[in-house]
Amino acid sequence: ARTKELEDKIANLSTSKTPLRSTKWLNRTDDSAISSLYIERYLTYGLTREELKSGKPIIGIANSGSDLAPCNRYHLTLAKRVREGIRSAGGIAMEFPTHPIQETSRRPTATLDRNLSYLTLVELLYAYPFDGVVLLTGCDKTTPACLMAAATINIPAICMNVGPMLNGYNNGQLVGAGTIVWKAREMHAVGEIDDDGLLDLVSKGSPSAGHCNTMGTASTMNALSEALGMALPGSAAIPAPYKERAQCAYKTGLQIVEMVLADRKPSDIMTREAFENAIAANTAIGGSTNAPIHLNAIAKHIGVKLDLDDWDHIGYDLPLLVNMMPAGEVLGEEYFRAGGLPAVMAELLDQGKLHPDCLTVNGKTMKENVQGQHSWDRRSIKKYTEPLKKEAGFLHMKGNVFDSAIMKTSVISPAFRAAFLENPKDPNAFEAKAIIFDGPEDYNARIETADVDERTVLVMRGTGPLGYPGAAEVVNMTAPAHLIKKGLKYSLPCIGDGRQSGTSGSPSILNASPEAAENGNLAILRDGDMLRVDLTKRRVDVLISEAEIQQRGEELLANGGYKYPESHTPYQDIFRREVGPLSEGMVFRRAVDFQRVAQT
Ligand code: FES
Ligand code: MG
Repeated sequence: ARTKELEDKIANLSTSKTPLRSTKWLNRTDDSAISSLYIERYLTYGLTREELKSGKPIIGIANSGSDLAPCNRYHLTLAKRVREGIRSAGGIAMEFPTHPIQETSRRPTATLDRNLSYLTLVELLYAYPFDGVVLLTGCDKTTPACLMAAATINIPAICMNVGPMLNGYNNGQLVGAGTIVWKAREMHAVGEIDDDGLLDLVSKGSPSAGHCNTMGTASTMNALSEALGMALPGSAAIPAPYKERAQCAYKTGLQIVEMVLADRKPSDIMTREAFENAIAANTAIGGSTNAPIHLNAIAKHIGVKLDLDDWDHIGYDLPLLVNMMPAGEVLGEEYFRAGGLPAVMAELLDQGKLHPDCLTVNGKTMKENVQGQHSWDRRSIKKYTEPLKKEAGFLHMKGNVFDSAIMKTSVISPAFRAAFLENPKDPNAFEAKAIIFDGPEDYNARIETADVDERTVLVMRGTGPLGYPGAAEVVNMTAPAHLIKKGLKYSLPCIGDGRQSGTSGSPSILNASPEAAENGNLAILRDGDMLRVDLTKRRVDVLISEAEIQQRGEELLANGGYKYPESHTPYQDIFRREVGPLSEGMVFRRAVDFQRVAQT
């Protein structure tokens, strides 16, 4: 039986000027058949009529975990605590799966699914009676896909990531998820370990539930979600198995109900200033080169102007503060114990490098959340005035080879600097011979026999959003075994139209647009061309005449343009028709052009 209190609530909601979105669905008076149809099937799994018509907020739990998505799989457990939080605060939880995106398994590449997961989540949030949503994120692309959808639908939304794995160890040495792959591949290439040894070593980097324990794309994107104000302060860095993670799940459930009652929406939180805070945070944490792609995409979907020049202007001059692999030494557990993102933000705040008044999910400002939260562990999180590296952000590179590419400077090692950048006659620049690979298959086939020496630039093309649908994470190329055996102490410089794993420590120039598949000038490069890379001028140029560039371009088009593989599935074809370049976030142009959907 309905209590008097519930009856009053319903009566109030129907006369309230702004009833909840779900209430409009479930308490329709104009056509009761429709609300009955919405209600009757939800009753069959045990919800009561009273609950559904009570006007209580209905909260979606968008669960990205499944057997297909091991990085996020622990959300199948955590969602129960989220649900308890929602219920405790007076809401009704409805959990549903998102399209899974598993970084390490999805072929041809997981980024292909970011936009698919985005589109399907938009449809779910639009089409069902949700008042708010908890976005359960983790592995690399799951976080931007969720934030992009929240931006488009703009109902109250809060992120909670699954948390990083525990630290990995091998013989007492820290072994990071992802970062160990690059090291192990080099050891394998020179015969130090066999196939089993390779798998054993790589597995040690991933010892528990959770996403990568390094500052790869997952830790980065979840830190940036918190820096944007879209996750509870201090939440991103909590390791998956720690008790604080399950407590955070409960608190996230409580918070979303409060957000619905306060009508605190993504557009109130994800402002231009919030994106600038996230760019600053990305430099300080040593964030992934995938971050500009994803953050620019989220900005496009919420209607905030943001481009790669902003990343250079706002982020480049800032210092690296977090001593976490791949740019530093520690892993997720130390970073969490040292204070996580609030400790990093406290340093930036003190120096006036943050917009202090940005609103966050808990209704407080960024300043209120992080002020004074400095780290006690100065090995893991440095003082702003004693950083690991100054000027540690991304450079936005241009030139005659491409219009736009990004370079992460925090991973430039002293050995690389000495070999390439310390020529007194030409400081901070180098000229070197290029060897060109058409995709990872060509690289694997030719790397050992191609004319590569210790001053070669490795170029990878055909791996952008069109060429390798979704843009492959393959630009970080390992030097040939004969150079490693000779004791090469640094990664060779790499340039390409694809992406690089966030866990890679290679100083690469990535995400070059236009890509070869669009017949950009990357497509006319030939083995042996000399390239000039100038970090001060932020340029990459091929040292051939304008006339020669012109002539090669005409020859390319006369031969039918740059060749790349056919699409293998309908979605790959749709993706290729709709997608924009990496420099603009690799969004579907039509999804951005489309006016934001009505919230009713
Ligand atoms: Fe999923 Fe790194 S592979 S988080
Ligand atoms: Mg990755």
